[in-house]
Amino acid sequence: MLKCTKLVTKLREGKIGLAIIKVGLLGLGNVGSGVVNIFSENTEKIREYIGTEIQVEKVLVRDINKPRLAELDQRILTTDPRDILDNPDIDIVVELMGGIEPAFTYIKQAMENRKHVVTANKAVMATYCKELFETAKANDVEIRFEGSVGGGIPLIDTITNKLAGNRIDGLVGIINGTTNYILTRMSRDGMSFDEALKKAQEKGYAEADPSSDIEGQDAAYKLAILAATAFGLYINPNDIPCEGITKITEAEIRYAAELGYAVKLLATAKNKGGDLEIHVHPAIIPDSHPLAGVNNEFNALLIEGNAVGELMLYGKGAGSLPTGSAVVGDILDIIRMMRQSAKTGSSLAAGRNNLNVVGEDTGSYYIRITVVDKPGVLGVITTTLGKHGISIASVSQRSLGERLVPVIFITHEVEREKLDKGLAELRNYSDVVKEVACILRVESY
Ligand code: NAP
Ligand code: HSE
Repeated sequence: MLKCTKLVTKLREGKIGLAIIKVGLLGLGNVGSGVVNIFSENTEKIREYIGTEIQVEKVLVRDINKPRLAELDQRILTTDPRDILDNPDIDIVVELMGGIEPAFTYIKQAMENRKHVVTANKAVMATYCKELFETAKANDVEIRFEGSVGGGIPLIDTITNKLAGNRIDGLVGIINGTTNYILTRMSRDGMSFDEALKKAQEKGYAEADPSSDIEGQDAAYKLAILAATAFGLYINPNDIPCEGITKITEAEIRYAAELGYAVKLLATAKNKGGDLEIHVHPAIIPDSHPLAGVNNEFNALLIEGNAVGELMLYGKGAGSLPTGSAVVGDILDIIRMMRQSAKTGSSLAAGRNNLNVVGEDTGSYYIRITVVDKPGVLGVITTTLGKHGISIASVSQRSLGERLVPVIFITHEVEREKLDKGLAELRNYSDVVKEVACILRVESY
């Protein structure tokens, strides 16, 4: 039985060709099962790639008797975290439990016990990434978190390593699979919000508490991680302006579609002359936009680098095997690094923390207003908005002879503050303006 440090030394010295690397899993749910299934399905390929065997030594669960989605020796299941965190045989701890506690404490303890850590936990990484990077450094171990953003898409590795020679100027993407699945099913199949959410849960995309997905918090966690990776900024995820999709109705999706737009939940971080504009919000995007064709549980991130230009990464953003793929990739990376005695560098961008973080600044907006269908109404609206510097790019009104009709305006770029003031004044004309029913950002390309 070799202690972790001895094993690392031997591997570094090249004295062990085929030493078995022992992994401890914290959690065997959707993602944990995906990891175990990938190890058993791709054993030969993995052994060939790293020149050694990987053994899942122990797995922490809450309920040992629960049916599992992966086949494994029941005897390695435990309900005692110490069997993994204090186990001298285990070299890499893989945290796939979810939630902030006890996950954060276990990750920290694992690193303090000189074990490398891989996690897909965006809540922990977004909230504690600075502290965790410091703990990793102090204990000379690695922490990897590719699966925490974008499921199977290698976003963190691409930004950190492949685009290391770029200054990243902007990120905009669909980074929550559950909400994208819901919006897709509502728009394509006329499914209700609740029905689509239920399906997303059955497919294993949603968080244990799905309100994190539908309220946008999961995307805000991921955006905070991306901001640390791309811009070197630790932003408290709770400070990121965030709106989910709970107010998006099937009718809204239909109105937008009639105008040639798709409704998507977008996460945005853009450097606008030294201000980092960062927010999570539902938006409409023209059908020609590259993100408009990203459907179901797929995610995509458009990255703008000052050398590479525009780049879009696309793939499955949630699910057992896609996320398992990212986790296994991180494990293999760590083993390769152990074997080569190499460091692959911090996942944090250097030198950009002089950016000033701001919320929603300027944008073009889709506004649906319910009005009384009578002469002069459009004039009242455009004059009022015009007084606040809000210029209209297009207007569309559908009248089927009812007294109240929806009118949809798309504005030119305007400051959000001015828009809110203009709309507040408009609400005073209650004899003709019945409701400002929906405001969505327009993301163009
Ligand atoms: P899950 O299906 O709910 O699985 C959680 C696992 O952790 C279960 O095996 C559970 O044990 C165990 N667990 C939870 N709390 C525990 C505790 N206090 N003590 C011991 N065991 C505990 O979750 P998941 O979907 O696999 O997600 C895991 C992590 O990956 C989360 O951080 C999630 O945000 C992230 N992630 C998920 C996806 C996805 O598509 N699902 C994608 C990317 C990232 P029992 O089985 O005994 O209940
Ligand atoms: N609940 C998350 C999502 C899982 O739907 O995107 C992937 O992080």
